[in-house]
Amino acid sequence: MTNTPVAASTWAAGDYPAMAGLLAPAAERAVAAAGPVPGTTLLDVGCGTGNAAMAAARLGAVVTGADPTPELLAVAAGRAREEGLGVTWQQAPAERLSGVYDRVVTVFGAMYAPDARLAAASMARCCAPGGLVVSAAWTPDGFMAAANRAMGRYLPPPPPGAAPPTRWGDEAFVYEQFAAAGPAEVTATVEHVRLEFASPVEAAAFWVRAAGHVRVERRRLEASGAWEALHDDVAAVFAEWNRAPGPAVRVESAYLLAVVRGGAAVTSPGRRVSER
Ligand SMILES: C[S@@+](CC[C@H](N)C(=O)[O-])C[C@H]1O[C@@H](n2cnc3c(N)ncnc32)[C@H](O)[C@@H]1O
Repeated sequence: MTNTPVAASTWAAGDYPAMAGLLAPAAERAVAAAGPVPGTTLLDVGCGTGNAAMAAARLGAVVTGADPTPELLAVAAGRAREEGLGVTWQQAPAERLSGVYDRVVTVFGAMYAPDARLAAASMARCCAPGGLVVSAAWTPDGFMAAANRAMGRYLPPPPPGAAPPTRWGDEAFVYEQFAAAGPAEVTATVEHVRLEFASPVEAAAFWVRAAGHVRVERRRLEASGAWEALHDDVAAVFAEWNRAPGPAVRVESAYLLAVVRGGAAVTSPGRRVSER
C-alpha cells in the first residue's frame, strides 16, 4: 500500500498476499457491483493475487486477470489452480490492456497507474458497449491515506510530478478521467474494509511487513535507527483510527466504489450521479 506511484517490482518485495487476505471483502463487493452472470467476460485490472478475478470466476464469469507484477500473477495463478478455477492471466499495467470484456473491474489496482488518464482510457477501451467499469480505490481522507503519510515520512520523496493514488478515491476525479475518454456516467458510494488486529503494535508489524516499498528501505532505515520509529508511527495511526474497546484494534478503512457506464447509452457529455 502506498500513497505515491511506485515501481511495480516493489509490490512483490513485501508480504502482499497476507494483505490481500484482509482486502478480499472489497473484491467481493466490487464484483457484486459488476454483477457478472455465468458467461460474462470480466477483466480484473491490477489483479494482484487474484481476489476479484477469483470471486468473479466462482460466479461463472469468463475471467482475465491483468497485473504488471509477475510474482503476484504467479501467486494468483496458483490460487486459481488450487480451486480449479479457469482464469487467463495477462502481465500488463492498466495503461496497456488488451481485449474487450463485458465488465472491467479494478480493486486498488488502476489507482497505482502513474498516468491516470491513460489507465482510464485503456479500461474504457476494453469495456464492451453497454458494459461497466467498476473501480475501488482508497479515499484521500481515509485510514489508508493516513497510514501511508506516516510511512512516507521515512521513504525517499516521490518522483517529481507524482500524484497520490488516492485521487482515485474521489468521485469527481474518476468522472474526469473517464469523461476524457468519451461519454461517461459515474455512480459512487463510500464503502469500508474492516481491519482487525490484537493490538496497534501487532497491526504496525503486519503493515510494514506487507509493504514492499517500505521493506526495500529496511537496511537504510535500520542503519539510521529509524526502523523502530517507523513502526511506532504506524502503530500510532492505528491507535488514532481504532474503534474497538480494550487493547484490540478495529479500523474501518474507507474506499470509493465507483461504477462507470460509458458509450452511446450515456447522454453526451455524460454526468456524475452520486449515491452518497
Ligand atoms: C494493493 S494491490 C491490489 C491487488 C488486488 N487487486 C487486490 O485487491 O488484492 C495493487 C496492485 O496494483 C498493481 N499495479 C501496480 N501498478 C499498476 C498499474 N500501472 N496498473 C495496474 N496495476 C498496477 C500491483 O502490481 C498490485 O498487484
